[in-house]
Amino acid sequence: MTTKPVTMDAIVSLCKRRGLIFQSSEIYGGLGSTWDYGPLGVELKRNVKDAWWRAMVYERDDIEGLDAAILMHPQTWVASGHVASFSDPLVDCRDCKRRYRQDHLPHFVGVRLVPASGEGSPLDLTVAADTYEDALKKVKQGKEWSSQPKGFWKTEEADPSTVVAVCPECGGGLTEPRQFNLMFKTHVGPVEESGAVVYMRPETAQGIFVNFENVMTSMRRKLPFGIAQVGKSFRNEITPGNFIFRTREFEQMELEFFCKPGDKCAAGERTDMEWWEHWKEQRLEWYVRYGIRRENLRLREHASDELAHYAKGCVDVEYQFPIGWSELEGIANRTDYDLRQHMEHSKKDLRFFDQDRAEHYVPYVIEPSAGADRGTLAFLCDAFREEAVEGKEPRKVLSLHYSLAPIKCAVFPLLKNRPELVEKARKLARDLKPAFYTVYDDTAAIGKLYRRQDEIGTPFCVTVDVDTLTDGQVTLRNRDTMQQERVPLEKVGGIVSEALDTARNR
Ligand code: GAP
Repeated sequence: MTTKPVTMDAIVSLCKRRGLIFQSSEIYGGLGSTWDYGPLGVELKRNVKDAWWRAMVYERDDIEGLDAAILMHPQTWVASGHVASFSDPLVDCRDCKRRYRQDHLPHFVGVRLVPASGEGSPLDLTVAADTYEDALKKVKQGKEWSSQPKGFWKTEEADPSTVVAVCPECGGGLTEPRQFNLMFKTHVGPVEESGAVVYMRPETAQGIFVNFENVMTSMRRKLPFGIAQVGKSFRNEITPGNFIFRTREFEQMELEFFCKPGDKCAAGERTDMEWWEHWKEQRLEWYVRYGIRRENLRLREHASDELAHYAKGCVDVEYQFPIGWSELEGIANRTDYDLRQHMEHSKKDLRFFDQDRAEHYVPYVIEPSAGADRGTLAFLCDAFREEAVEGKEPRKVLSLHYSLAPIKCAVFPLLKNRPELVEKARKLARDLKPAFYTVYDDTAAIGKLYRRQDEIGTPFCVTVDVDTLTDGQVTLRNRDTMQQERVPLEKVGGIVSEALDTARNR
């Protein structure tokens, strides 16, 4: 059995074909980079969010949940710094008019071609490459310059200060960067005047900061404790794309973990930096627990010039997507920046009173901030494979963690023209439904039904056949091993429930 590496095209095609994710407003030609989760996609994403919530809120005793409104007082975004500086540098190609985020442009290297004879003017090329060696390879392969005359040129690295970025598509010149604020604006009430402007939240985090005091007081919390939230965020991204990787409307799963700054800790208490370490480990473990192969994950620490001005440290959990290593989640030490900003702008006291020290101070915050859509994409990419099966069509299988699988169990009658089998299978499916998501299907031959369920990740299939009528047993098939065993019909619910519980609690 061999497997092929997964491509983004294979994932997009699977999602469309099997009702996971559709292009938004498709009948009108779609709206760029917006996607709708279909019947199975909504289950998958919901399961991802539930797995996160379980790990954050139910399995710990130091985190509370929250569901804040998307629209917030506009001062929130002044205080957080988003109005002034949540912007990306935008450049346009003067020739083909394509638009880019300046910081997403490829790296460019200058290659100077000097006439071998020593006479005539040199020719400077700007090549999209990370190193001079890579650039040279491209030039020599004629990729950068189709009519390169052979034998007449020596090559040398151009002075880096003379290298200017060009359009990666057509090589045209680019405009100067302009700052473009990523927040979507809308208006409250019927009059579109500036006083009524509100923003669609670009992160869920601020809903947590403004509720810090409410949660701490109502739940009688002391430091350290966290507030977890899952919800939609909106950013008017300049270059969205790569399916659900970067979109303008997306869901975040964010935790703000409030802790003591290092200098306020007693002996034995974790400092802010120690909590940061803790959360790095926890979050990496979570992805592995829910099925992502460890070798496809890595932590990338931000260099000091990459850090947001308020952050004392930030690390990205990166996943090896088909598009390359890319950010799945950020884990930052946001210090006391946000609470201080909100104190200043709201004039409310958001300090914590430390009874042991008899002192008020502003907590530090560790923020693991994950994308539910990006997570869903990573789980899909890691689980999907096409296996060569000898003498048969390749098997497409979505080997999702049982907790994430959209459907847990599918029940089929072996023969759909035998009403006794159909009735038994339908009843079994109905009986299983309250315990876990079960479907009944009789729309194809049994081999095809198994393949269909494999492709959407259903861990268990149950077949009711003629023997069931006499021996009361059914065939239970496992998605991953493809092994089939005969089990008493009335035991199916218990066996599947136990397998799901075991997987969830592992
Ligand atoms: N509160 C911190 C914050 O929002 P971020 O790195 O901008 O940090 C956190 O976003 C996570 O949200 C990212 O790691 C990613 O998973 C997800 N995310 C951000 N922008 C996104 C977009 N345009 N489309 C999909 N997911 C996005």
